[in-house]
Amino acid sequence: MDLIIKNGTLVTESNTYQADIAVKDGKIVAVGAGFDESGAEVIDASGLMVLPGAIDVHTHLAMPFGGTVSADDYFSGTRAAACGGVTTVFDYAIQRKGSGIVDTVEARRKMADPDACVDYAFHCAITDLDGGKLLDEFDAAVAYGVPSFKCFMVYKKEGMMVDDGTLAQILLKSKEAGVMTNVHAENPDLIDMLIAQFLKEGKTSAWYHYLSRPEYVEAEADKRAIHWAKAMDAELYIVHLANEEGVDAVTEARDAGYKIYAETCPQYLHFTSDVYKREDGRNFVCSPPMKGQSSQDALWEALKRGDISTVATDHCPFQSYEKDWGKDNFTKIPNGCAGIENLYPYILSAANEGKITFNKAVEVCAFNPARLFGCATKGALMPGYDADIVLYDPNKAFTISKDNMHSDYDHTIWEGVSLKGYPVKTYSRGKLVFDDGAFVGEKGWGKFVKRVSRKG
Ligand code: URP
Ligand code: ZN
Ligand code: ZN
Repeated sequence: MDLIIKNGTLVTESNTYQADIAVKDGKIVAVGAGFDESGAEVIDASGLMVLPGAIDVHTHLAMPFGGTVSADDYFSGTRAAACGGVTTVFDYAIQRKGSGIVDTVEARRKMADPDACVDYAFHCAITDLDGGKLLDEFDAAVAYGVPSFKCFMVYKKEGMMVDDGTLAQILLKSKEAGVMTNVHAENPDLIDMLIAQFLKEGKTSAWYHYLSRPEYVEAEADKRAIHWAKAMDAELYIVHLANEEGVDAVTEARDAGYKIYAETCPQYLHFTSDVYKREDGRNFVCSPPMKGQSSQDALWEALKRGDISTVATDHCPFQSYEKDWGKDNFTKIPNGCAGIENLYPYILSAANEGKITFNKAVEVCAFNPARLFGCATKGALMPGYDADIVLYDPNKAFTISKDNMHSDYDHTIWEGVSLKGYPVKTYSRGKLVFDDGAFVGEKGWGKFVKRVSRKG
């Protein structure tokens, strides 16, 4: 045995119990008691919870966007992930006109491979079907280990938006190929109309970012995407769901038996649209924006009853000087916020405060992401699974500050937020990568995760 973690309380998506874990060659080989300790490193986890590493299925590392590039690259982003108990990061590889799916992913893989500190996977965001040629590449992409594609229903001028016809074709083909279709759902025409109106009226503060993308702008697109998915009898995964009407639409579709899944993000569970009234409101600008209190309440309720399947971050931070471009005009603020290091600590703290159970926290941050996106050996503490393990101290108080984070950004929307409990160790395939506040991992350690399709 290489490593034995003993005396801890194991928490899985369905169970909480005392057991020891034995690790060999990066894999969990046994869960139980009384293991032979000779030659093994033995960690006493008394008083600690032992959890599967989180899987953040929504990040944008080194993403060219909003006239710049997001502040965390594959090194700093995955270093921060490790320090927040995230052991697998899914990044979005954005296809550009003229490129294929596998080409697009391979180009990003080349960037990630020498830098990643934890394991990584990609969804491919399809922006152009190239007259249908890309549909013929779905099987190859699945064979390569990328069985999930994204459609942006917005970002027309950025060249990333797909129209409804394209979305419908992708859904239809996805079903045949065993692919999950992810959507960023907002209505671009309504956004453009509202932006034009506000700019004409000289309404340029960050508050108008929210008012140009209010609840109904997101809800319309959620319902449209669900409509197409139902019509094509295809699976659909709505990323960063933030509004109540959308939650209701997802719930209704799921109650009717459709395979509709929703992700939300910690920022929507914690902040409301009030942040855009703050002097530093521009730092909170992301799309969709934070919504009102009733949407936040609806997200928590949906999480509890299982109509939100995952919590991921949409990690896409920008530096203060870049956010400042939009001081006097909200349309010039690069969209996106930090979160990769805050995901698991925030959700676990919510569990520690009794808002959800610890099992639910593990379910939405590790188990469901692994199952929905085909990570066959991740998201659980079972023999044969990767030894991606987090030791969590429920009694450790922690206040988030940019100074105790491990990213490359110079500010965080989470500054000053206090958490009850915090991860103290993270193991990636049996290797210690985070130890009591310090990154102790290695650049290039992270491996590409070849995923299985929705057909298995
Ligand atoms: O504001 C955001 N969310 N930026 C990243 C790109 C996206 O829409 O996911
Ligand atoms: Zn998005
Ligand atoms: Zn995103």
